[in-house]
Amino acid sequence: MYVYLNGDYLPLEEARISPEDRGFLFADGAYEVFHAYEGRFFRAEGHLQRMARSLRELRIDGPDLDQLRDVAETLVRKNNLEQGNAVVYMQITRGAAPRKHAFPPNDTPPTVYAKAYPHTPPRDLQEQGISAILAPDIRWTRCDIKSVALLPNVLAHQRAKDSGAHEVIFVRDGMLTEGALTNVCAVFDGRLVTYPKSPYILAGITRGAVLELCEMLNVPVEEVPILEKNLPRADELMICNTTSEILPVTRVNDNPVGNGKPGPITRALQQAYREATRS
Ligand SMILES: Cc1ncc(COP(=O)(O)O)c(C=O)c1O
Repeated sequence: MYVYLNGDYLPLEEARISPEDRGFLFADGAYEVFHAYEGRFFRAEGHLQRMARSLRELRIDGPDLDQLRDVAETLVRKNNLEQGNAVVYMQITRGAAPRKHAFPPNDTPPTVYAKAYPHTPPRDLQEQGISAILAPDIRWTRCDIKSVALLPNVLAHQRAKDSGAHEVIFVRDGMLTEGALTNVCAVFDGRLVTYPKSPYILAGITRGAVLELCEMLNVPVEEVPILEKNLPRADELMICNTTSEILPVTRVNDNPVGNGKPGPITRALQQAYREATRS
């Protein structure tokens, strides 16, 4: 497996990062996850623009976007991943420097790392649906930045796994914000409801695609919070992200969502999303 590190393509075993890297010491960096279908990235531009935004917000001076696009494409080619599905993980940190909270000198180069690997979207979960648990959203109030500082997400997601669920859905002030690694949408009386873009959620690329597909399918959308107290009235619930696409949520905290089966709007969106990734 060839990975990219600071200008070089090299076998993963040979890739070395300094123990003084600020990604390691402070989680001082941003990341992106791209999904390639038969060698073609879905919404690459959206992911690149979001990486640029994350870096801007963190005041990290990263490479230009053409260079990052080229890295992602080259990794897919070099690792023979043009057939089937592949994921590219890309991370940029503020670089390596003696540990001080203040930014390192301006000439400290960022660390740029990327890796590509084969990926199979979870077709069985897309079909059957998943269960989720709710947990308090104890994250910071800049969840719009795709930062590598994911400890609250990791701990909450593990709580879901420990209880036999697939994902955790965070609740802030009585409102469902998003999952540990997914955005959340519900359906109430034929309308799709999802938390508005704000500092409390990551503006998912898949979420954006879902909202566009709703327009195409004539499903009305309301970007307003889903209230926890209204969950028992939801007809459908789904989570979405780049790697899993759209997963129906059929149980929350052991209670069925709607009739406990994936609903028709979820199904229509899954179908339309699959077609969009092929076109
Ligand atoms: C916290 C969080 N929300 C939402 C998403 C979904 O984003 P995307 O659709 O761009 O993969 C992710 C993806 O990793 C995430 O980590």
